Amino acid sequence: MKYTVVPALNDEEFGQKAADVFIKAIEGFQSPPSVILPTGDTPLPFYDSLVDRAKASGLSEFYYCQLDEYLGLHAGHEKLFINQMKKNLLDPLNIRVRLAFESAANPGHMIDNVISRFSYAGHPDLAVIGIGGNGHVGFNEPGSAFEDGVRVVTLSEQTIYDNSQNWDLAQHGEFPTRAITLGISDLKKARQTILLVRGEKKANILARALTGPIGPSVPASYLQEQQNVTVVADMGALSQMSPDIVFK
Ligand code: PGA
Repeated sequence: MKYTVVPALNDEEFGQKAADVFIKAIEGFQSPPSVILPTGDTPLPFYDSLVDRAKASGLSEFYYCQLDEYLGLHAGHEKLFINQMKKNLLDPLNIRVRLAFESAANPGHMIDNVISRFSYAGHPDLAVIGIGGNGHVGFNEPGSAFEDGVRVVTLSEQTIYDNSQNWDLAQHGEFPTRAITLGISDLKKARQTILLVRGEKKANILARALTGPIGPSVPASYLQEQQNVTVVADMGALSQMSPDIVFK
């Protein structure tokens, strides 16, 4: 087993423990690392904790790289992941952005830019990720090959359902059906990975990802083959994992 599990009793402890793991990770790099960070509900206590910690005692420098983004929303749209990241973390901490997807009319051009940037400057050093209810990472939906790189994808029905729960049609317009995402092959190149998981609704998919068969039907299962993985998860999310793994 190559991953370490850090269990948390509640949201506050989850945020603090995730911040501890993250700060130790970025301090371990010799120069400021490029870091992929996720959006969604899961990381919010982590971002709150990071902002508090940074205000209290400062934070080592790092650069932000975007993991995924909806396509087709206008630049100021509050549901764009880049705008959520700015609000929750990047602006309060003045974090510099190394890679951001614009919700551009020309995703092909954007993808070419990302590929050439990765081949010139290297891939992000640290990947902080979440897991979707269907096992997706970023928007690498079930069926995505581990060799896939950055690309445009069509969202699965489950992702559209899950992510549209807090989406007000009158306020936010039509829910997007396409997105751009870094691929599993990009995530595999990170030297270190932190998986954040909260809530009992993720318990089954987390157990499948970490202990089930490895393959594209559960994209997050790539983590079983990855070095240097830390899983920060609450007890609900860990409820279907063997205690031998959680408390080893
Ligand atoms: P969530 O999303 O944190 O809102 O559950 C996670 C994901 O879809 O990757």
